[in-house]
Amino acid sequence: QQHPRQTSKQRFVADLSQCLFDFVIQLLPTQDEMAVKEDVRKLLERLIRTIEPDSRLLSFGSTANGFSLRNSDMDLCCLIDSEDKLSAADLVTMLGDLLERETKFHVKTLPHARIPIVKLNLDPSPGLPHGIACDIGFENRLALENTRLLMCYAMIDPTRVRTIVLFLKVWSKRRKINSPYKGTLSSYGYVLLVIYFLVHVKNPPILPNLQQMPPLRPITKEETHLNGHNIWFFDDIDLLRQRWVSENSESVAELLIDFFRYYARDFQYNTGVASIRSGLLKKEEKGWQNDYSGGRYDPSRERNRFCIEDPFELDYNVARCVTKDGLYTIRGEFMRAARVLSQRPDRAIVALAELCE
Ligand code: GTP
Ligand code: MG
Repeated sequence: QQHPRQTSKQRFVADLSQCLFDFVIQLLPTQDEMAVKEDVRKLLERLIRTIEPDSRLLSFGSTANGFSLRNSDMDLCCLIDSEDKLSAADLVTMLGDLLERETKFHVKTLPHARIPIVKLNLDPSPGLPHGIACDIGFENRLALENTRLLMCYAMIDPTRVRTIVLFLKVWSKRRKINSPYKGTLSSYGYVLLVIYFLVHVKNPPILPNLQQMPPLRPITKEETHLNGHNIWFFDDIDLLRQRWVSENSESVAELLIDFFRYYARDFQYNTGVASIRSGLLKKEEKGWQNDYSGGRYDPSRERNRFCIEDPFELDYNVARCVTKDGLYTIRGEFMRAARVLSQRPDRAIVALAELCE
């Protein structure tokens, strides 16, 4: 129903918000899929415990932070609570053998990676038309914490935050700019870009900065630090949902249009670092300029074309895999998206289809 006083821009934005909700809802995982994944986690945990009785297998990444799409991969992390335990490399090798014998998974082990992992794949079947892909990592406690941080951000304003993040994940996959192995950005990187935008760019902000809020009670350094990283953040979500009301009432569509415009035009890729903990930082102050010292410029050593600070591992650039070409492509896609949405075709649904084609 069209409101007689609405301008065509207001109409377009209202339609686009509705289309975004409808689009995202049909891509959420079904109850069935979530139940199957939980069964798989339990099965794998039972098997790992035959090797390490004091171990737990926990879900992280999108299956645990509320940003999961249908058929997304499972990220699992194995924690071992005993003192006297196998090395991660040995455990990966033993677990790989065991899973190969006892399950139908295709198994690949990477015992000597920075974080040793076991990669599992299950072939599609009638009950599971897309199969399952799953990575098991070990002792990756920071990943569990950053998952919890993203989940808390998602829960403060579920409608706006989740809709934008889920849409961007689909869009970046369809536009083929979501593969760190090929020089573009991981899903984790895109989620951090959204949170950075909602906390630090939007004024008034859509989200509070959970890492800078005062704690409710005094906390000790032991409680807040993990491997030398400060992992504290305000996580009393029930309280936050009562107390935090953003003064910004922009709709999902307005925010998405502005997100694309900001990363197409305003973000300072050459000098800036997006930090959800601290706001906009300078590459210089982090020592993240590209390193041309020693004379010849070597593109394979390039790590800092695009800089996104990890919320806890402050010396870690989440976008370190983005190459010169990758960044060029990503920025081109932000520009294209901003253009498609600013041209406002008659129907929002047409804009969405064009955006993701
Ligand atoms: P999809 O798999 O595309 O659904 O997205 P996802 O939300 O699971 O993101 P992704 O697979 O990129 O990352 C999964 C989790 O791994 C993230 O939530 C982080 O906890 C962790 N992670 C991924 N990439 C990095 C990284 O570069 N640095 C760190 N510290 N953690 C990462
Ligand atoms: Mg994942």
